[in-house]
Amino acid sequence: EVIDGQGGTLAPALVELHAHLREPGQTEKEDLASGLAAAAAGGYGTVVCMPNTRPVIDDPATVRALIEKAEGLGFARLKPAAALTRGQKGEALAELSYLKEAGAAMFTDDGLTNEDARVLRLGLEYAGSLGMVVSVHAEDATLRAGGVMNEGPVSEALGLPGNPAAAEAARVARDLEILAGLREQGRSARLHIQHLSTARALDLVREAKARGLPVSCEVCPHHLDLTDEALRSFDAVYKVAPPLRTRADADHLLQGLLDGSVDCLATDHAPHTRAEKERDLLEAPSGIAYIELAFPLMWTRFGERLGLEQLLDLMTAGPCRVMGWPEPSLDAGAPADLVVLDLHTERAVNPAEFKSKAKFTPWQGQTLRGWPLLTVVGGRVAYWRG
Ligand code: DOR
Ligand code: ZN
Ligand code: ZN
Repeated sequence: EVIDGQGGTLAPALVELHAHLREPGQTEKEDLASGLAAAAAGGYGTVVCMPNTRPVIDDPATVRALIEKAEGLGFARLKPAAALTRGQKGEALAELSYLKEAGAAMFTDDGLTNEDARVLRLGLEYAGSLGMVVSVHAEDATLRAGGVMNEGPVSEALGLPGNPAAAEAARVARDLEILAGLREQGRSARLHIQHLSTARALDLVREAKARGLPVSCEVCPHHLDLTDEALRSFDAVYKVAPPLRTRADADHLLQGLLDGSVDCLATDHAPHTRAEKERDLLEAPSGIAYIELAFPLMWTRFGERLGLEQLLDLMTAGPCRVMGWPEPSLDAGAPADLVVLDLHTERAVNPAEFKSKAKFTPWQGQTLRGWPLLTVVGGRVAYWRG
């Protein structure tokens, strides 16, 4: 439901299922205050943060501490994702229920380099029995090897080590087989595939959905708007995992948004320090951080094709359906998590204004529209432009 008035457009606050907020332990890159303020400035009312922190978010006390700290800040709501394993020992954690009781919103292997299929299988089973979803990074580490960009004509021309599309497709196929096997045994497992980047992997998800498997997937705006051609600059700001793919992949992903086979958008906000990203492509860490730009970027680039209703669905109700949360609403009596968007005024991207600690971006200087004017979370102003 969209209410257009006074030049501002009222919508439910956006929901982010995938952000790296770096707390605890890597607060030189980002912390809860900077990351959740950035989220609110981007129109988000709720953020799921990933557990590839130092230490890893894999115990109830850490989950509780993060939620409590976030509540005191008054920006976006925090819903921590917890690791499927404890102490990165590669063993599935049987006591996921303690993490759920502490407030963990989902379980994930993201960023944990957990390559053990058995761990995922047990994790899906345990989490499923609690009614919770498991999200996966879906990249075969052996096939990825030292790849710093998409493997293809561009990586060959540049002489850079490539990360093949098969690294994603092989992992997605494997994880879907594990899910299918569990479902055949009557288990209530649910799988969410993060940052889908290749046409082939999307087709695998489509087939699985057609078979009735409970799988969902997200696509990131950077995989729609940017391609491996950007790496011709040799600028590590474009280094991300999974990597920027081809124009054909990006077009296929957009088609997936349009036809409903992609469940939601997520940014994979992954801040690093400028010094880290100024290293050469082989050395620099992967990650693009742009939670403050995600809506304006999507609206400016793809608003005409998607339409406002569908774009907002992919950033609000879509992520809630993935999580099994109630769909956000602007009805009387609903919690006041909302955003007012200026769909018309064009403004150049100025990273110096970012709330995020990562004050650089691939979209620096580009003119976008769709900027949030006001974000309200739980009836309190979390962001107000000006
Ligand atoms: O580019 C990425 N950055 N991909 C990931 O999976 C992890 C993330 C990070 O934590 O920096
Ligand atoms: Zn990931
Ligand atoms: Zn991630």
